[in-house]
Amino acid sequence: MAEIQRELMIDSDKPFRVLGIETSCDETSLAVLECSGDDVKLLHHEIASQIPVHAVYGGVVPEVAARLHVAEILALIDRVKEKFVSEGTVLDAFDGLAVTKGPGLATALRVGVETARTLAFAEAKPIVGVNHLEGHIASLWLNETNRASWKFPALILLVSGGHTEIVLMRDFGVYEIVGRTRDDAAGEAFDKTAALMGLGYPGGPAIASYAEQGKAAAFSLPRPMLHDGSFDFSFSGLKTAVRNVWENFTDEQQRSSSLIADLCASVQEAIVDVLATKTIHAIHKYEPSMVGIAGGVSANKRLQERIAERCALEIPDVRVLEPARGLHTDNAAMIAAAGYWHLRKGQIDDWHILDADPNFEL
Ligand code: KG4
Ligand code: ZN
Repeated sequence: MAEIQRELMIDSDKPFRVLGIETSCDETSLAVLECSGDDVKLLHHEIASQIPVHAVYGGVVPEVAARLHVAEILALIDRVKEKFVSEGTVLDAFDGLAVTKGPGLATALRVGVETARTLAFAEAKPIVGVNHLEGHIASLWLNETNRASWKFPALILLVSGGHTEIVLMRDFGVYEIVGRTRDDAAGEAFDKTAALMGLGYPGGPAIASYAEQGKAAAFSLPRPMLHDGSFDFSFSGLKTAVRNVWENFTDEQQRSSSLIADLCASVQEAIVDVLATKTIHAIHKYEPSMVGIAGGVSANKRLQERIAERCALEIPDVRVLEPARGLHTDNAAMIAAAGYWHLRKGQIDDWHILDADPNFEL
């Protein structure tokens, strides 16, 4: 994955500090991760969310996202340096850099990548461009309990706002995508159906919260490709089905909180049903030693429950891992962790040519 490979001698006895930078979508985030072998400590983490700004537009506006990243990122870097220098713990705040290279919004990614390249040059530190989706996988590894029982091959359901994939991870940095969405991502299905009901952005947390009071069987919604034998997904039809249901109600009925709760519970169940069923089928086929769910949608309690329940019944020997607390949605800690996987193997990019890649494949 790295454009140029050079030798990086990481002394295993000396902790190695990675500065992680994430700007692929609507969070500007910075983290300092101290790593020593498989022992990692999150020394510093900041996430500046742009969600309140984008919520006004009902979704992420790429140009606005990029401007906000520019406005925020140097202040975050200043705080990292101030913190470590004022504590007197280190002369330099970090030993290497990891930045999200893609996938994501081109203009937003570029802010992080250009900032990281400049730091790599100015501080003469090794840098690696990280795949955002690998970052989500690394969010599982940041959980100490998960790390202690980490095993390969791992099967990971990766569910974010832009991606839905079932990934077989054979080693750090070795991935096979065994299923993916053919149209919308699961997060997008949550976001688009929430927008239709006027529940704001992002839709996932809103739908999950209304769903707690609703009946999941209230509306019968499609579960496309559920039994087609593949591990692929399709969520775009769900949006149309929800629109058809929603538009059959009058304006007054649409204001009823019990209708909203029932429709949210039904939408959530349809999405979760497909995700959980396909994941279980993939587990039976690939027989992984470990299973994980990662990405923003993995914060969904119903999804966690459904996968855990079925695994407990059908494959009790396999543990289902979730990201470390608070690291389900986008953050720089996971980017620093994935970057460390590469840096410790000597996989370094050349800062002269490192570039954002909005369509970067895992
Ligand atoms: O991974 P993430 O932060 O960003 C991307 O890489 O896309 O995921 C954001 C997505 C959004 O679509 C959001 O609606 C969804 O994660 N999400 C949820 C929940 N929390 C966030 N979806 C369902 N239930 C949740 N509790
Ligand atoms: Zn993400």
